[in-house]
Amino acid sequence: MRLPRLVVLSFVGTVAATAFASQPAAVERGLELFTRTWVPHDSRAAEGGDGLGPMYNASSCAACHAQGGLGGAGGKERNVRLSRAGSTDAFLIDHRFSTLSARPVPSTGGSKVERNTPALFGAGLIDNIADEELHAVAATQTGEITGRVAFTTDGKVARFGWKGHSASLADFVANACANELGLAVDGRPQAQPPKGELYDRLSLMQSAVRQTGSKVDLIAGPKRDMTARDVASLTAFVGSLPAPRQVTEQPGHKEGRALFSTAQCEACHVQTIGKVDGLYSDLLLHDVGRSLSDEGSGYMTRGTEKALLAKVDADGMVEETLSDGSVVRVEATAASQLPPAATEWRTPPLWGIRDSAPYLHDGRAVTLDDAIRAHGGEASGAVTAYNNLEIGQQQTLVAFLESMVAPTVAVATLY
Ligand code: HEC
Ligand code: HEC
Repeated sequence: MRLPRLVVLSFVGTVAATAFASQPAAVERGLELFTRTWVPHDSRAAEGGDGLGPMYNASSCAACHAQGGLGGAGGKERNVRLSRAGSTDAFLIDHRFSTLSARPVPSTGGSKVERNTPALFGAGLIDNIADEELHAVAATQTGEITGRVAFTTDGKVARFGWKGHSASLADFVANACANELGLAVDGRPQAQPPKGELYDRLSLMQSAVRQTGSKVDLIAGPKRDMTARDVASLTAFVGSLPAPRQVTEQPGHKEGRALFSTAQCEACHVQTIGKVDGLYSDLLLHDVGRSLSDEGSGYMTRGTEKALLAKVDADGMVEETLSDGSVVRVEATAASQLPPAATEWRTPPLWGIRDSAPYLHDGRAVTLDDAIRAHGGEASGAVTAYNNLEIGQQQTLVAFLESMVAPTVAVATLY
């Protein structure tokens, strides 16, 4: 959609104080890309790309990320579905739509899990937190509650995603382009149809020729939909989204904050990391129990199924694949950089939480109270402490959480 320029500028005036804020032109281009509704064979695609799809979940970033303002969370109907054929296969995105078919794509077989759409406010600030800060907060945790730093499969410290599977904002944004909208960007395979109903490249190309009347390079396949500069602009826009606000004037705010502390919530939901205050997350992986477990950790785009999904076996050993392809079994240690276990999740930041319902990784919790009671594992003590509060105190604690609201984004009112 087209936004009045005045609004765009007033938005740019409230950007988060990150490096991205010093690139207003990129941020403005990124705003257009974030709100752009893509169509198949989009004439706006850079370098002759095939536009939206072939496989996609929505036709713009803003379609999912809009609650409480542009860049916000998404309702349960916007959940991304993941599925895998067998228990040793990697989870893949189970796309809802295909440009090849007029109807929504039926869900594939196998086991399924879902991911709720989080808000992106303040993401640039999270991106800026140094790796050392995450190691430092992990080192302070001992005993019952001991989080660990998340790593990507290629050994980088990760901080984004429910499972903590992504190292940087730039990386997540490029993946979102490829996975959610089916856009061809550098270094990411474009999502392909599932094998069972695979339309081969030729039929994709034929449909392109039919729809655009243009000549298509059958050997090289679709060109890029977004250039590296486009992806950088989109990243700059997301990175400039202001951090959520906290409303501190309401009665009981101080008491609620104190109860949050007494109930051990802040063992994981740490108020400040490095220079980022009000985050209420340690960004570490914690075991929060079996009822929240699912194994969809490092899911990927169809076509890159060969994931290195290391797992600890019953003897505490882990299999590692060496560069020559051979597999060795070694003892698991804190430094093993294991992918998240089924019961492990990255502590989600609580800033802006009032405006990001429903809650938890799959959006199963309608209220904040539901979300708190669903914790288990390392957080069992915290849940017991919460349950032992008087009902009025529980409400005061929840009211404290509700004081964390989405930022005021000028453009949001118009979107
Ligand atoms: C179909 C809905 C949908 C669309 C469209 C979508 N997203 Fe998301 N987004 C999600 C979901 C679900 C997650 C959580 C995924 C996870 O953690 O496993 C997410 C997570 C993210 C994150 C990581 C946030 C964090 O704190 O971990 C970023 C950044 C992001 N999206 C950016 C984008 C951008 C940019 C676009 C457009 C190219 C986009 N998204 C399109 C649903 C969507
Ligand atoms: C052991 C670490 C730990 C403790 C202690 C803990 N949490 Fe959490 N919290 C998590 C993790 C991990 C998740 C994500 C779980 C999921 O999505 O399945 C979470 C999720 C949440 C959510 C939902 C966030 C969202 O964006 O959907 C809320 C609200 C929350 N916690 C509040 C609390 C409160 C209040 C307390 C204290 C009573 C508390 N937590 C104690 C780790 C913890």
